[in-house]
Amino acid sequence: MKGYFTRREFARTAVAGSAALTWLGARRMPRVFAAEAGKPALLGGTPTHKGGWPGWPKWNKSWEPEIVKVLRSGQWCGFGGSGKVGDFEKAYAKLLGAKHCVTMASGTTSLLTALHVVGVDAGDEVIVSPFTFIATYNAVLMHKALPIFADTDPNTMTMDPASIESCITERTRAIVPVHIYGMPCDMDPINAMAKKHNLAVVEDACQAWLGEYKGRKCGTLADLGCFSFQNSKHIPAGDGGAITGNSDELMDRCMSYHDVGRAVGTYKGKGYFTRGSNYRMTHYQAAMLVQQIDKLVTDTRRRQENADYLTAGLNEIPGIQTVRLPKNSRAVWHLYAFLYDGDQFNGLPRNKFIKALRAEGIPCSDGYHEQYNDGLLDEAINSRGFKRLYSAKRLKAYRDSFQELKGNKKVCETNVGIFQTLLLADRGDMDHIIEAIRKIQAHSEALAKVV
Ligand SMILES: Cc1ncc(COP(=O)(O)O)c(C=O)c1O
Repeated sequence: MKGYFTRREFARTAVAGSAALTWLGARRMPRVFAAEAGKPALLGGTPTHKGGWPGWPKWNKSWEPEIVKVLRSGQWCGFGGSGKVGDFEKAYAKLLGAKHCVTMASGTTSLLTALHVVGVDAGDEVIVSPFTFIATYNAVLMHKALPIFADTDPNTMTMDPASIESCITERTRAIVPVHIYGMPCDMDPINAMAKKHNLAVVEDACQAWLGEYKGRKCGTLADLGCFSFQNSKHIPAGDGGAITGNSDELMDRCMSYHDVGRAVGTYKGKGYFTRGSNYRMTHYQAAMLVQQIDKLVTDTRRRQENADYLTAGLNEIPGIQTVRLPKNSRAVWHLYAFLYDGDQFNGLPRNKFIKALRAEGIPCSDGYHEQYNDGLLDEAINSRGFKRLYSAKRLKAYRDSFQELKGNKKVCETNVGIFQTLLLADRGDMDHIIEAIRKIQAHSEALAKVV
């Protein structure tokens, strides 16, 4: 049967895999697993991992005095460039190697601001990654613009640069690549395409703090980069966001737009010169963030080391396709994702694989699905405003175009994501993840029969 391992074949494969890994060098070598020895937890066996995983978010008592100081000062409202907000903006810009940073109320308001500042307006089109958190689509829709989906490359799980050009129309204004799960997009061909067609590029780096592409940090690779500091994020403040960039003009406009249109920088002295909103961060959020920068750096290193080790182990398992990152890039793994091929697991469907893995004590999920089929976009394009802005023919062609997203469909149907906190655990715990998957594979025929 295709991809099925008998006990003997499995043992042979495991030994061959271990020999290859020995040859690759001891540092990255996962130990050999006796996966077939134990029954999967779903079949009554003992879970591979017991004792839980690191929790999130992590609080450090030593951060409290600085926050209490802000609370006692009565200066809570964060105007950009001053106080704790200013401290964090400077520190975050320095950390990323960006010329400027402007803090925001959230990742969503960062995207809203960035899109406005690069000129996205009602009736425009913005090319976006479909494999993302729904907020990326929402930010475009809230400007009464159409999010046009470039396809996802199943090898990288990010925007396929080759699919961008066919999305461009005379209404296209910007491209929004998403460094999803902290995996950097291949930015060179994306930027080249933008340059060719005179489009802006806004990076959705909301999951990519310290991600790297060719020696530069995510969020500094295009016109503007947007970040989220929401509770689940690697540097959290409950909510919060930031825009980074190197253009004085664009960043002054971000500062102004997020602060009710107040004139700043090159525009100072000209009064309320632009439309704007209130997307400001508070000083107590900034006081939380500025103190977490060192932790972000050390946590990121740990996640990366464990992810490298996990990748080496998972690459030995048929049916598990780990992500191919662009050359000279580093992911930061907000989720550690791989593609699952049920054929190599005796036809075990992905949902049962996930159930079995969770039963082994490994929290995981099936990531983003094909959200454009959910009704959100139908609601938007059937609204009075969108019908005024776009022809019925354009909206029909737009709706039909979702069928073309073959790469994204594959990723949505086959990806499995392991939560970032697991990568903060010990090296031996990474062995548990690998061992649990091997165990499931060895028993996949029996597991496929379990409801
Ligand atoms: C890829 C992506 N874009 C945008 C956002 C929006 O960020 P926020 O929740 O801070 O508004 C998020 C947050 O989860 C995200 O993951």
